[in-house]
Amino acid sequence: LNNGLSPTPPMGWNSWNFYACNVDEVKIKQAADTMVSSGMQAAGYKYIVIDDCWQTGRTSDGTIIADPVKFPSGMASLASYVHSKGLKFGLYTDAGFTTCAGKPGMYSHEVQDANTFASWGVDYVKIDWCDNGGMDPQTRYTIIRDALANSGRPILFSICNWGINKPWVWGAATGNMWRTTDDIFDYWDRVTWIIDQNAPLANFAGPTKGWNDADMLMVGNYGTGAVFGGGMTDTEYRSHFSMWTIMASPLIAGNNLSTMSQFTKDTLMNSEVIAVNQDALGSQGILVSDLGGLQVYSKKLQTTGTRAVVLFNRTGAAANMTINFSSIGLSATASIRDLWSKTEKGSFTNSYTVNVPSHGTVMVKLTGSETTSGSFISGKTYRIV
Ligand code: DGJ
Repeated sequence: LNNGLSPTPPMGWNSWNFYACNVDEVKIKQAADTMVSSGMQAAGYKYIVIDDCWQTGRTSDGTIIADPVKFPSGMASLASYVHSKGLKFGLYTDAGFTTCAGKPGMYSHEVQDANTFASWGVDYVKIDWCDNGGMDPQTRYTIIRDALANSGRPILFSICNWGINKPWVWGAATGNMWRTTDDIFDYWDRVTWIIDQNAPLANFAGPTKGWNDADMLMVGNYGTGAVFGGGMTDTEYRSHFSMWTIMASPLIAGNNLSTMSQFTKDTLMNSEVIAVNQDALGSQGILVSDLGGLQVYSKKLQTTGTRAVVLFNRTGAAANMTINFSSIGLSATASIRDLWSKTEKGSFTNSYTVNVPSHGTVMVKLTGSETTSGSFISGKTYRIV
């Protein structure tokens, strides 16, 4: 949606993956505090989003009510606390009759709720698709888009209908980001399943369109008490993050920011990797080669002659992997910088080969010059819609 609110993929934190329904004001304030103290804010994260289960019902005039036990200070006060940290405040609701947790949805209260959110100081709404009575998602989300636009406050619109009815097709006219799949879980197979659905949609993303939302991050959740913390290794979390960045997905952390390991911090806050996601050209990376699960993804960056590339080893064993410069639209000579280690690798001719661990990634930036030949846009990388 070309409303000026998402020139690059949104970055923030959401309560769902760690807390699910066990969310309250103390936890949200702690998330805001630690987003600042951990360095996440300085790394670019700015939205604090409360997911499902903050609502209880409506007043007699239909105004939505925040649960007074979990949120005794009220949402306006909580929003102003988040704002006082230099952060932005987000809430979740649902386009249907009730949310997935059975709380009141937006149906028939679209304008009223949009105005209530604006009066509370909400900067971001995520709108789910449970209990929708079989309605058409494009119609429902368009009504809500207009209600938000007329609320008098700039509010980023996150569409969460799990890829139903191809939201990438109508997303650019409707929202700032749109989920492309069903929910993420903290398992390797689920993450690769999302990547395979999200990566072919590159044509639909961009600064004036919006972003293919591959769902919220699971990085750092294993072993920390997260409700949805199933278990990926640090290597897998780093691949998960590398792929979300190169796919220009929103980066919405879903872990407990107050108990992050050093590895989790280094993963979520690597400035050079984040810069790939936030590059101003706003191009979503594409799959340029796949040799039996040894995949190379390339993202065009704003500076002429540069690319970010992820070498993604989905196989069960370490393997040598190669970037052919012609396959990413660069001419024979390019210099290479490793982004995770922030080290220069030197100048290479025609290709670059590196060993990549099982389920691991190597992420590099190439600086060379553009060619007009080469198969940068490979036909198989786009889904026919
Ligand atoms: C389904 C969504 O896809 C999740 O991200 C989360 O918001 C839950 N609903 C909450 O009920």
